Amino acid sequence: MLNSKLSVLSLVISAALIAGCNDSDNDNDTNNPPTPPNDLEAQAQALVSQMNSDEKLHLVIGPGFGTTATNDRAPVSGTVGFINGVLNDESGLDIPATKLMDGPAGIRINPTREGDANTYYATNFPSATVLASTWNTDLVEQVGEAAGEEGHDYGVDIWLAPAMNIQRHPLAGRNFEYFSEDPLISGMMGAAIVNGAQSQGIGTTIKHYVANNSETNRRTANTVITPRALREIYLRGFQYTVEHAQPWAMMSSYNSVNGTNTGERFDLMTTVARDEWGFDGFIMSDWWAGWNPVEMLKAGVDVIEPGGQWRFGHSDDWFPYIEAAYASGELTDADLDRNIVRILKQVLKTPSSQNYAFSSNPDLTAHAAVALQAAEEGIVLLKNDNNALPLSTATHTIAAFGTGQYGTLPVGGGSGSVNAENIISINQGLKDEGFAVNSALDEVYSGAYATRSLEGSMDLSANDFNPAKYCEGGTSAGETNLGGLFAVCRELDLTDEQISDAVENSDVAIITITRNTAEGADNEEHALETDSDGNSNPMSEGYYLNSVEQSLIDRVSSAFHAQSKNVVVVLNVGNSMDTAQWRDQVDAILVAYLPGQEAGTAVANIVSGAVNPSGKLAQTFPLDLENVSSYSEDGSSFPGIYEENYINGGPDDVPELNYDDQVLANDDHRDFNQYFSDDIYVGYRYNTTFDVDVAYPFGYGLSYTTFSLDNPAVSANTLSDEGRDGSVILTTTVRNTGGFAGKEVAQVYISAPEARLAKPQIELKAFAKTDQLAVNGQQRLTFTIPAADLASFDPQTNQWIVEQGQYQAYISTSSDVTDVQPVSFAVNQDIVVSDTTPDTLQLQPEYAGELNSRLLTK
Ligand code: BGC
Repeated sequence: MLNSKLSVLSLVISAALIAGCNDSDNDNDTNNPPTPPNDLEAQAQALVSQMNSDEKLHLVIGPGFGTTATNDRAPVSGTVGFINGVLNDESGLDIPATKLMDGPAGIRINPTREGDANTYYATNFPSATVLASTWNTDLVEQVGEAAGEEGHDYGVDIWLAPAMNIQRHPLAGRNFEYFSEDPLISGMMGAAIVNGAQSQGIGTTIKHYVANNSETNRRTANTVITPRALREIYLRGFQYTVEHAQPWAMMSSYNSVNGTNTGERFDLMTTVARDEWGFDGFIMSDWWAGWNPVEMLKAGVDVIEPGGQWRFGHSDDWFPYIEAAYASGELTDADLDRNIVRILKQVLKTPSSQNYAFSSNPDLTAHAAVALQAAEEGIVLLKNDNNALPLSTATHTIAAFGTGQYGTLPVGGGSGSVNAENIISINQGLKDEGFAVNSALDEVYSGAYATRSLEGSMDLSANDFNPAKYCEGGTSAGETNLGGLFAVCRELDLTDEQISDAVENSDVAIITITRNTAEGADNEEHALETDSDGNSNPMSEGYYLNSVEQSLIDRVSSAFHAQSKNVVVVLNVGNSMDTAQWRDQVDAILVAYLPGQEAGTAVANIVSGAVNPSGKLAQTFPLDLENVSSYSEDGSSFPGIYEENYINGGPDDVPELNYDDQVLANDDHRDFNQYFSDDIYVGYRYNTTFDVDVAYPFGYGLSYTTFSLDNPAVSANTLSDEGRDGSVILTTTVRNTGGFAGKEVAQVYISAPEARLAKPQIELKAFAKTDQLAVNGQQRLTFTIPAADLASFDPQTNQWIVEQGQYQAYISTSSDVTDVQPVSFAVNQDIVVSDTTPDTLQLQPEYAGELNSRLLTK
């Protein structure tokens, strides 16, 4: 009965209001011509004008976590949030609820449903860090397309991806969800994902806007930052993606910026994103982010997510506060209408609005192939002495060490994980490839992996520590449990005898080192080595190897090298980690990162040489943690410190919102400042400017072949003549000079003159990846750098400016340009590329003193 009423109403409304939608016969035609933007605006306004205030108020706040929404026509299990719909017999309004689904490594729906024997697994694509390491925007766009198609087939309206914060510090827990330490790569990769996914008819959400670069006290951390660093480093990737891909949505972040929650900042939500960049979508809050929903709605967060009671019941439902603000006139119809029009302009395009009858049967096989290719191109070869790799399946028996070869992690934990049906472990991948693996070791490690069902904890700090337990979580090899928890393993402490047996019976050692990382916490510098009872066997965590892992590398390396056999290390990690202290002991290092469900196959294809590695680091591997520009002994730069006299806009400021005592008593509530004292000198910008050595530079990655970059040249320069509309065009010819077919990435680093503004020594301004080049093959690459991409932000004049003078361009294969001969070009007079709005993103005086006293300057 209800169903038939719904469909009749939907016919009436959709025919009247949803242009471009010929769903009167409820077909699945998604090839309708896109609705022109003006029509969407007019339609959205027509809809709002028919809404009553209750309907409006329910549109600007979600229905609550784990609940259903108004007019959810086709529920999908795993939907993490909604925008309420409207269903009203009197007015005839019938707007479906919008289903929001997590990412970014895939479509995070629930794999099983009550009373339903079918499964709904999703493809776990490689983590964003791996995608960025491909330096292949076409391939990343294909990942976006595959994920978009999967979301479309699974009934998703808007995907909560991509995540594009800057990887500022190697211990940040969510770095795996983010692309890079560099804003150009982040922006280009973000645009590729958005364009790919949205081409399939679902929306995307770029998140977490902005300066959310750590997880410690994430809801209350206050980023204290200069306007220049904010603009040049942290906002710039978002800006690029908005300008090149128009995501349907953005998500405001948990943290504050200079004392005010991002979502409550009109300058961030409205002035910068919409007025300056031309963002045309809507903004949702992160889940339970912010302190004052009314302020957020007025500042430009269009919808508060997920609505309902604050998580864990620590405050009242925010709906009544919004209702009261409306009744008192603090929140006006004009406020609501503006937000709702922005929301509906996107909602009108969703599959739910189009009545798309989704199949729930995506082509997982085709998507697995895309996930594999992306993993293969994103895995980075850091070291390969003695041509240790590749190995021949015909002649090499592998001694595979490390519990991570079984508990191979495809992605990190939290909302960024994906429920894939099967994860191919490194062990499985090597066997499938046809390698013989040492069977005695295989038995030992599969036994350790099987300990995950034993009683007790594997965490030294826990009371019930069980030294015989090496892995926990997961349900079978590599599989997640329903909470998205993968098996996580400690390292097994082998006996000397086990190692010497392995040397006798194998030709080469491959040691897998694994690190878990997740949303909600930053990572440890060192693993806890012993508990108070003297138990030892540390968790596999920390930036540095723990004693068991180091001992494994020590003993395996000396035993194998004594017999002139090579040792290869595979890093299955979410972040950069220490390599400097042990890299001389091994022959080859492969960074697999968290490469998605096809992990083992991708690693094995590189190990065998079926695939020639072409990934390049999109983040620096530092020489030491203390060499990172955001390192501070007192934690004031990362992950932040408590300070009595600097109260952010936390719950103390809004007592009327009735945060209960538990929140106020909780450490995680205010005064938690993070001074971005590294300013614009993040990652390689720091290392190259201040001559700080690294273990492996940004942009670096080896191949089984060699390449030359010949005839670098400036082929055109219209900057002086055309000013802000001008550009510089550079070219180079990449030639494969070695013995394997392969791909190379050419990277353009610019060293700009310093007339008034201090600048990093070099900055990445363009890059391109070749096609697969045969031996002796070559390809000419062209790079167009528009004035806007060359510009720096001048906080005195509020302008983006290209300063006059001589510019050096290094076309290089990494950010180490020491041996690269630059080509130069001139800009005859200053070019103002754009004016920004005065008095936005200001650093208030109460924070300025503290930040300036710590600020890194040239
Ligand atoms: C995360 C977001 C995520 C949301 C919904 C938040 O905790 O920060 O990235 O999309 O939850 O799961």
